[in-house]
Amino acid sequence: MQFLIINGPNLNMLSIREPAIYGSMTYDDLVASCLTWCQDVGVDGKCFQSNHEGAIVDRIQQAYFDKVDGIVMNPAAYTHTSVAILDALKATGIPTVEVHISDVHTREAFRHHSYVSLAAVKTIIGHGVQGYQEGIAWLADYLRAQSKA
Ligand code: DQA
Repeated sequence: MQFLIINGPNLNMLSIREPAIYGSMTYDDLVASCLTWCQDVGVDGKCFQSNHEGAIVDRIQQAYFDKVDGIVMNPAAYTHTSVAILDALKATGIPTVEVHISDVHTREAFRHHSYVSLAAVKTIIGHGVQGYQEGIAWLADYLRAQSKA
């Protein structure tokens, strides 16, 4: 099984960026952890980060042609604005878990709405970087259960 972990804008700045909200783990450490968490559940993981909406749309489309089984995605600020990313997820139909490091529901009102949630099979909010581990494990279980059904 192949998973793609996508991180949106400013997540390459983890550890520098508002550590009181997003923690002290660097992006490189997050990538290493996500790859390990994929291995732990028998999944081949790849990570992608971009600060550009179109590049994220392109990568989601590519995942379809690469036959990626699942996406774990923190769309970052594009969560709240991007119909294009929502449409790419709907176009490809790849089961996607949405992850947010912070608890967006207790922050500014503009962070309360998510376009990506309209396509996601699950959303994990406010569990820190552990949310990625939960998302990867949940998606592996979900896809294995689906393939038996
Ligand atoms: C975020 C929350 C978003 O509102 C914000 O724009 C981000 C990160 C999170 O992981 O908590 O960049 O997705």
